[in-house]
Amino acid sequence: NEKKPLRGKRVLVTAGATMERIDPVRYLTNDSSGKMGYAIAEQAARMGAEVTLVTGKATVAVPNGVKVIRTESTIEMMDAVLSAMDEQDVIIKAAAVSDYRPAEQAPEKIKKTESEMMLKLVKNPDILQAVGERKKASQLVVGFAAETHNVEAFAIDKLKRKRCDLIVANDVTVPGAGFGTDTNVVNVYDANGLVLRLPLMEKREVAARLLAFIADRLTKGEITE
Ligand code: PMT
Repeated sequence: NEKKPLRGKRVLVTAGATMERIDPVRYLTNDSSGKMGYAIAEQAARMGAEVTLVTGKATVAVPNGVKVIRTESTIEMMDAVLSAMDEQDVIIKAAAVSDYRPAEQAPEKIKKTESEMMLKLVKNPDILQAVGERKKASQLVVGFAAETHNVEAFAIDKLKRKRCDLIVANDVTVPGAGFGTDTNVVNVYDANGLVLRLPLMEKREVAARLLAFIADRLTKGEITE
């Protein structure tokens, strides 16, 4: 099992950006390319896992050997995650999810008749929090945190609030880290603090190191049970 430490495990990964429609041709989104989450999905499959990739908008090709579920809005992504979560061993949430969506979706293209226009937004549900609340003790839930300041404090706060087992924090102000790049710089925390520090490296390498750590945690969990 040296090379396939995730054999027999089911891993669900979310990746990419959610899109919140304003009207049939316009939407709110963010800069996630999907690279981080797709690299995790690809590497998990290489390590022997049965992988489900729930993806929003992404600019990279989906990896081979994984089951892909395409979604657009946060609500669609949440439905896909919640309906697949019970059979998963590991859930990794690398998607960049919109915290708000337009209160109403115009059924037709909005015309520019007014000189000012107000766009009312309402809060989206938090998928990670919903997963955290529903997870079984045997399931490992890994969140991401994209921060621009107070990275460690905000990441640990998210870990606790959203009840995940691990949180992967990227300081998106560091060159080569965060949205769109081929590389990332991350620190991984559990409820007791820092557990893994990964300096600047390819997202594929971040994925490999993170999954090796997760595989190790799963094995230790099995021994102590
Ligand atoms: O896709 P790339 O271009 O490769 O970029 C990678 C990345 C920067 C998008 C990725 O590494 C990353 O940090 N993803 C999480 C981005 C994010 O939305 O972070 P957040 O701090 O806003 O959210 C924290 C966690 O809660 C995330 O796991 C997110 O998926 C989840 N969340 C957030 C809001 C919401 N309504 N539902 C959620 O599930």
